[in-house]
Amino acid sequence: MKILFDQDVIRQGIEQLGSNLRREYGQNPITVVAIMTGSIVMLADLVRCLDMPLRISLIRASSYRGGVTSGDLHVEELERLDIQGRDVLLIDDIFDTGKTLVEVTKHLSSLQPRSLKTAVFLNKQGTSQVAMEPDYSVFKIPNEFVVGYGLDYDDFYRNLPFVAVMEQADLEEHSRRLEPNAQSR
Ligand code: IMP
Ligand code: MG
Repeated sequence: MKILFDQDVIRQGIEQLGSNLRREYGQNPITVVAIMTGSIVMLADLVRCLDMPLRISLIRASSYRGGVTSGDLHVEELERLDIQGRDVLLIDDIFDTGKTLVEVTKHLSSLQPRSLKTAVFLNKQGTSQVAMEPDYSVFKIPNEFVVGYGLDYDDFYRNLPFVAVMEQADLEEHSRRLEPNAQSR
């Protein structure tokens, strides 16, 4: 796979985001709301770069009836979200069409946080279909399908410590090895 960002570059990027957030919030307590499952690796690394009092909440955003577009998003709270009057930082793995972030932001706003900011690990260029932009993006990427550092293809590859482009040859290798009717292993 073609590597876009290696472990070192990612570590520096997350540390930089951490230092920007320490400047933004100081010692004010914050609630980090992370969208499952793609943001778990970023979440684990980022919170260890932060030193203010901090709580973590997990949510899931799923599209209805396995739809391909993220148009009809359903926001599922994995526990009751207690964010009224709190400073909230919403994080996600990647900003692509932007629909996920818009929908989740709407849902969180309805719970009346004191403030709401958004941070994404990757920001895909030229694919947005919404008016909003994340407040923080660790890296900008071209319009290519990437995996690793939390990002998946068919739920695999989230554990790669780097970010790589999933190219045609990688897709073929994937279906040969990992799809249900694969002949050889
Ligand atoms: P959006 O609603 O179109 O911004 O989509 C965001 C979601 O699409 C992310 O949370 C990912 O789950 C998925 N996604 C978009 N682009 C990629 C990619 O290049 N690799 C892996 N997942 C992606
Ligand atoms: Mg995904």
